[in-house]
Amino acid sequence: MADLLVTGGAGFIGSNFVHHVVNNTDRSVTVLDKLTYAASRESLAELPEDRVELVVGDVADAPLVDKLFAEHDAVVHFAAESHNDNSLDDPGPFIQTNIVGTFTLLEAARRHDVRLHHVSTDEVYGDLDLDDPKRFTEDTPYNPSSPYSASKAGSDHLVRAWVRSFGVRATISNCSNNYGPWQHIEKFIPRQITNLIDGVLPKVYGDGLNVRDWIHADDHSSAVLTILEKGRSGETYLIGADGERNNLQVVTAILEHFGRTKDDIEFVTDRAGHDRRYAIESGKLRAELGWAPRYQDFEAGLADTITWYQEHEDWWRPHKQATEAFYATKGQ
Ligand code: NAD
Ligand code: DAU
Repeated sequence: MADLLVTGGAGFIGSNFVHHVVNNTDRSVTVLDKLTYAASRESLAELPEDRVELVVGDVADAPLVDKLFAEHDAVVHFAAESHNDNSLDDPGPFIQTNIVGTFTLLEAARRHDVRLHHVSTDEVYGDLDLDDPKRFTEDTPYNPSSPYSASKAGSDHLVRAWVRSFGVRATISNCSNNYGPWQHIEKFIPRQITNLIDGVLPKVYGDGLNVRDWIHADDHSSAVLTILEKGRSGETYLIGADGERNNLQVVTAILEHFGRTKDDIEFVTDRAGHDRRYAIESGKLRAELGWAPRYQDFEAGLADTITWYQEHEDWWRPHKQATEAFYATKGQ
């Protein structure tokens, strides 16, 4: 029997997680991924073929999911439509993959008594005011703002209901904003890095004061593996690395790397319903399961990420024009 099934393992965080598992355990991994626009086979290319297998398919394909669950001991569920701006443009795929897809996995987990870890987001909690001393905890009420975050909130509720009603063995994690290699250039940090490589000004929504709590994708991966191995079924764990920065601070750090000043910013149309601030209190995960982030210095991790995009232009270049054309239609 193969060991671990990872859905969405050809995406940004999922592929990072597969690398983390291969480098830090003896497990073998099957990746189930639909290979949407957000996926890349290249992110898995250097992994050993005898330990990592890619199955191209949809998490909402019940017969396929049933077969794969019968063959695996545990499942980590990353697959999702993940970009807020896309969910504002066309919410349909978010409902189908994030809600119907998670439902399909839960039904298979119930039939085959497979251990499931569901990867979710801090966005399910809505947002905080800039001057609010509070951070999100596992007890914060759900209050999602966008079609994306509402679909993730819906998937979390399904997991909880399947644990309570059917005894499915599952955990949930809600993580803050990730950065690192292999992130699609539609997202904030890689978009601005690749703009600057092209000599284009970074595009900042609204006043740029929105705060995100940044964590390196490898730290997200180590947290998910810790929860899979040591987490208590039915529990939720928040994942964060105390990385609060507003968007202007992040862009200024990227600009400095390119020898530009903080005046070299283009302010563009704000995102509808734009969440103001996310902030994670990850004390439960640290105290109960002994997890700690490795990338404590955001600016150093950001510098490594900039270098990675400079060295991997072949990977992102084919997507740049279409990504920017989409944003241009919205004045962003
Ligand atoms: P991503 O968009 O980079 O990757 C998503 C992957 O899922 C892609 O490989 C895609 O092909 C696959 N996928 C999409 N629909 C599918 C389907 N129907 N069936 C099978 N595969 C499908 O996303 P990401 O940023 O790596 O996020 C991964 C997970 O982590 C998501 O569940 C997201 O909600 C969560 N998350 C992301 C962040 C972040 O900052 N990016 C933070 C917290 C939580
Ligand atoms: O908090 C976790 C979430 O983080 C994940 O659940 C999502 O999957 C992930 O995409 C991310 O969501 P955000 O909406 O916070 O990330 P994004 O990279 O789209 O934007 C980060 C911030 O930067 C946000 O305040 C919007 C702003 N932004 C974004 C883009 C693309 C800009 O100012 N300019 C841009 O060009």
